[in-house]
Amino acid sequence: TYVVTENCIKCKYMDCVEVCPVDCFYEGENMLVIHPDECIDCGVCEPECPAEAIKPDAEPGLEMWLKLNADMAKSWPNITVKKEPPSDAKEFDGVAGKYETYFS
Ligand code: SF4
Ligand code: F3S
Repeated sequence: TYVVTENCIKCKYMDCVEVCPVDCFYEGENMLVIHPDECIDCGVCEPECPAEAIKPDAEPGLEMWLKLNADMAKSWPNITVKKEPPSDAKEFDGVAGKYETYFS
């Protein structure tokens, strides 16, 4: 499965949603997650994310994010159409510590 990681927070560009063939993205207020049981590992979303927030779960160190994607996908609503990204998305690209401050 692929995993949405910290840099999505407050960037939330949603380009990923447009390309996913199985519509397995779920929407929180400040970020999206991928449902790990629905993702078919096609990989097309990874290069589409302007914030480079999507990673294959084979990458080391993503355990926390894999668990967060799995947990949140159970309660957040499915999103299949890209919306308007936050107007200040660029300002948050690459900012450290976004999980602690802004996760929701
Ligand atoms: Fe969707 Fe493919 Fe990305 Fe999985 S890897 S979330 S199936 S676009
Ligand atoms: Fe987030 Fe990137 Fe999608 S910022 S909403 S994972 S395009």
